[in-house]
Amino acid sequence: MKKISLTGIKPTGELHIGNYFGAIRPALELASSYDARYFIADYHALNTIKNPKELSSLIRGVAAGWLAAGLDPEKVIFYRQSSIPETFELSTQIAAFTPKGLMNRAHAYKAAVRENSEKGNDPDAGINMGLYTYPVLMAADIILFDSDVVPVGSDQVQHIEMAQDIAQAVNYNYKQEVLKIPQAMIQQNAAVVPGLDGRKMSKSYGNTIPLFSPEKQLRKLIMRIVTNSQPLEEPKDPEQSQIYLLYKLFATAEEQASLAARYRAGGMGWGEAKEELFRAANRELSPLRERYEAIMADPAGLDRILAEGAAKARPIAAATVKRFRKASGIDL
Ligand code: TRP
Repeated sequence: MKKISLTGIKPTGELHIGNYFGAIRPALELASSYDARYFIADYHALNTIKNPKELSSLIRGVAAGWLAAGLDPEKVIFYRQSSIPETFELSTQIAAFTPKGLMNRAHAYKAAVRENSEKGNDPDAGINMGLYTYPVLMAADIILFDSDVVPVGSDQVQHIEMAQDIAQAVNYNYKQEVLKIPQAMIQQNAAVVPGLDGRKMSKSYGNTIPLFSPEKQLRKLIMRIVTNSQPLEEPKDPEQSQIYLLYKLFATAEEQASLAARYRAGGMGWGEAKEELFRAANRELSPLRERYEAIMADPAGLDRILAEGAAKARPIAAATVKRFRKASGIDL
């Protein structure tokens, strides 16, 4: 029996190449050694996205993006959180075992409170209960599917620890293993991708290259990468250049060595380096973009894939909720 991995994908922004190399590719690699489950965390997105058109297009776009990147819905389970009502029952069940103080300590909530106090606002301004109880819903997502490991970035480790605490509190109270205790898995091979301005590529910095940019836009964005004023003749250190760091993600080992040599030799300007980057990026991203466009052109097909995933997921979820119901005395 393979161990179970679970990845939650919050559809709050257009996918970019930082997501691709930093999260999507490493998470998809797990499918070869784990019984892998992936879901679109759409109710988590509702905490921040209140425009219905925007939310539905993000849900479709992000789901299509993962499929285009290689998620194989025949080999793994791929579903939407909102299609699994058991999530919300388990969330209520475990809320009874979650100390309020634990939620007070959650990083995302604390950051929102801090921002309010720095601005002189009421500490609760703009904070909804969805944000406050986010760790409970996330714990339910994880525990519902008997997850052994959850691949996450370091910003999410605290949430996994909270899921462990909550599941342990349930098991301790009923003196039996009602819920499986999940482990965080920090991805070793996740790349940190530099953005157009040299900082980490992130939606919040506005420095991203969207993963499915049409060719023209891809080129335009690459040409916009910020560079220093080193003259053309001067030898350049490839490892100090974000153009080269991005190039490494797309190019073969020989291509990398050859471009690095041109950097060090001098005589190559930034414009030329950007052309090389565009060529390599477009070569890798073109087939992805084509698959993405084909999936987006067939929304009924996409919905069918997600419905089939939900049908595979629900019996697993129902069994967990049932275990809790039995152990707790709710089932008479
Ligand atoms: N909180 C995660 C994020 O912001 C998304 C998420 C929701 C998740 N539920 C999850 C991740 C369960 C892993 C497991 O990216």
